[in-house]
Parts: sequence; structure tokens; C-alpha cells
Amino acid sequence: MTEPTSTAKLSVHGNDYELPVYSPTAGPDVIDIRKLYSSAGVFTYDPGFTSTASCDSTITYIDGNKGELLHRGYTIDDLASKSHYLEVCYLLLYGELPSPTQLEDFENRVTNHTMLHEQMVYFYRGFRRDAHPMAIMTGVVGAMSAFYHDSTDINDPWQREVASIRLIAKMPTIAAWAYKFSIGQPFVYPRNDLDYASNFLRMCFAVPAEDYEVNPILSRAMDRIFTLHADHEQNASTSTVRLASSSGANPFACIAAGIACLWGPAHGGANQACLEMLKEIGTPDRIPEFIAKAKDKNDPFRLMGFGHRVYKNFDPRATVMKQSADEVLDLLGVENNPILATAKELEKAALSDPYFAEKKLFPNVDFYSGIILEAMGFPTSMFTPIFALSRTVGWISQWKEMIADPQNKIGRPRQLYLGETTRAYTDIETR
Ligand code: CMC
Repeated sequence: MTEPTSTAKLSVHGNDYELPVYSPTAGPDVIDIRKLYSSAGVFTYDPGFTSTASCDSTITYIDGNKGELLHRGYTIDDLASKSHYLEVCYLLLYGELPSPTQLEDFENRVTNHTMLHEQMVYFYRGFRRDAHPMAIMTGVVGAMSAFYHDSTDINDPWQREVASIRLIAKMPTIAAWAYKFSIGQPFVYPRNDLDYASNFLRMCFAVPAEDYEVNPILSRAMDRIFTLHADHEQNASTSTVRLASSSGANPFACIAAGIACLWGPAHGGANQACLEMLKEIGTPDRIPEFIAKAKDKNDPFRLMGFGHRVYKNFDPRATVMKQSADEVLDLLGVENNPILATAKELEKAALSDPYFAEKKLFPNVDFYSGIILEAMGFPTSMFTPIFALSRTVGWISQWKEMIADPQNKIGRPRQLYLGETTRAYTDIETR
């Protein structure tokens, strides 16, 4: 933690208080209110944490107005075009880009942990066939603490490291198996001669009767999807992981909590919700009807894949993802796919509509990632698991940072209580 650079004055109930102000390396100053309750006897009120910094961090920085996303200082555009997912994982976890030997060592460590404990096969079989792959992933990742006892002690740095590598290495296998189970196909085991993205594609699309030859353009697009989703600062699922971890819970339990939070349609579930919306729209001629619904104040409907809590100009991840979407659509020749045609028209219609421009609602990363995944042949139910797989490194990096922080305290928000005050219990006969 840095030293205060100035103070802020607060006047409450006729008394003045001075609060320390910290200046970050980038972004707005932060007023330290930690002593506010003990000194002034008041809480602050900030549902949705729109103005509250819950931690200090050196991992990821977002400037929503500029449309900038930095990991350890490197722009997402540079990382998505010049780097690759495992290198970005190293950067997020350890703070620096790896040397060639460091990268090779890291890739070997990840590759050596791609298999799941064989007993986990029975765990999968306990799920209903029609279970959503996110439900399976939440369960299986949570259950890892029952299979990998030797990496659950959060106070041991070595165990934390092993848990981190295990989670990054096994997540593609866990997600691919959730998919295979849901479609009734046998599990495909990882192959360690393939790169991370190709291995995942093969585990999803190969069958014992016929191997799957990985197309390098698709593998590159998959790797970009992983890279673009790798971390995103203190979003809902990351904050969930931090909050769960603040109690001392083991890493597998914390990441399972993050996966559960990510599933919601306002967060990682948006890519599935977006494709389902495109299917519902069906054909481009129905777009005006849906745009009108999205603009109607009395209708809760929102255009899925549009808007962002932080990016209010454009989502820099969406710019890169759009290029990838064009490459994949060119390769697969899917111009005649009605869903994809509808997506392209919807993008045009929303971008030229003043409502969306005024409210700064632009297509976000999930709009384009959904299109790519649909074109690759993934069912919509796999979109959020792929997001979860990609985000695992972000969750772990933030978790590791938090555990190593001496200021780490159990998270315990306050509330503005508006319920009844103490009242006398009335017996049931008299109610
Ligand atoms: N369609 C239509 N209107 C919208 C939309 C939308 N997608 N998003 C926001 N608005 C309107 C909203 O009705 C509100 O209007 P008004 O000011 O008249 O009340 C205004 O824009 C501001 O909305 P908000 O809910 O206060 O904004 P927020 O920053 O809290 O919400 C959001 C951000 C992402 C939850 C929201 O834009 C949304 O629900 N989008 C659709 C879901 C989606 O695509 N989520 C994925 C986000 S990217 C993946 C990730 O990082 O998790």
C-alpha cells in the first residue's frame, strides 16, 4: 500500500473528518474510508460497488472512457496480436513477460497437469445427461478439493503454486468433458503434444472413431478468445473469488464460486444469452422489433452482447474479437448462416441508432465471441464454460495477490437497514 498523497474533508452531523487520499499509478484517486465507522460512526452506501475500490492490485487496469485494458501494463491489443494465452497466463501470474526458458518451463508444468484424476470420471457420471456444462464445471471444480488434498493449504506458497498450475492445466479438460458428457460421447483424453487451444478443440470435437485435425486458424481464434477473457480487474466473478477466499477457503472452492457467479446472464452468461437472442430474432427483418423492445422503458428486454459497466466508449476486446470473427467466418464460409447474418445486421442497426449511441452501448466482447463459437460448432451452452476456462488464470492471479497481501481481511460489507426495528413476538393464535 502506498502513502496518502492528500486528504479529503467530510462533514457528517456537524463534525469534520479528514480522510487519506491515495493516488494510483493510473485511474482516479481513492479516498480511504476504512476508519470512517470507528471515527464518525457512519457507513458508506454503494450498492453494486460502482464507486468502491475493494482492494489494491497491480494486475489489470481498465480505463473505460478510453477503452483501454492493460495487463501488467501491456495493452490487450498487443497481447492479443503478438502474444498467446499461456504467455499471458505467465504474465498475469508472475508480473513479467517470461524469458524463452521461463515460458518453456511454464508450458511444461501446465502440460504435465492436463489429465484429471481418473476417479473424477465417476463424478461426471453422477450428473444428469442434460445438465448444463456450467453446472457440471461448478461441481467438478469444487470437487477438486476432494481429489487434490496436497494443494489446498493456502498458507503454503508451494501448494498455492501447484493449485494454480493444476487449475489452468485441467480447466480445458474439465470443460471439454462437461461438453462430451452432455452430448453422450466418450471423454477424449488430453494430448500433450498439442498446444493449449488445439488440445481443447480436439478434446471437444474428436471421437474415438475419428480423430480431429485442428485447423490452425481455428486454434488461433480459440487462443485469442482465451487471451481476451483472461482477466478483467475486479468484476463480479473475480470479486466473488476474492470474497470467498477472504475467509480462508481453499482455491478450488473459491474458483468454483467464481464460476457460479460468472454463469449469470449479466456477466459471463451474456454470450449464451446473446446467441439465444439472435436465434429468437431469427431473421434480419425482425431486428427493428427487437431494437424497439430494447428501447422500451416498460420492457425489461435488453440487447444481449451490448453495453458494459466499465467500457463506455468501446470494448477494446470486442475490436480484436471482431477481426477474429471475420477471419473465422471467411474460413468456414458461413455467410449463409441466418444467425450470423442476423448478428451482422443487428450490429449495424444498433450502432446507427441514437438510443444506443447516447447511452454509449456498443457491442461487447461476448457479442463477437458468441458468433465465433457458433461458427466453430460449439453449442450455446458451451459459451460460458469457455469464458470460465479462460478467466481461471485471472481469478487465480487475483487470488494469489490477495493471499500474499498482509492487509487481507475477511470481506464483510455493511448495509443500510430499512426493516422493522425490535418488535414483540405475537403468538400464532393472535395473528
Ligand atoms: N440494451 C438496451 N438498453 C441497455 C442495455 C442493453 N444491452 N444495457 C444498458 N442499457 C440501458 C439501461 O436500460 C439504462 O437505461 P436508462 O439510463 O434509461 O435507465 C442505461 O442503458 C444504463 O444501463 P445500466 O444497467 O445502468 O448500466 P450498467 O453499467 O449497470 O450495465 C450491463 C452494464 C453489461 C449489465 C448492461 O449493459 C447489460 O445488461 N448488457 C447486456 C448483458 C451483457 O451483454 N453483458 C455482458 C457484459 S461483457 C462481459 C463481462 O465483462 O462480463
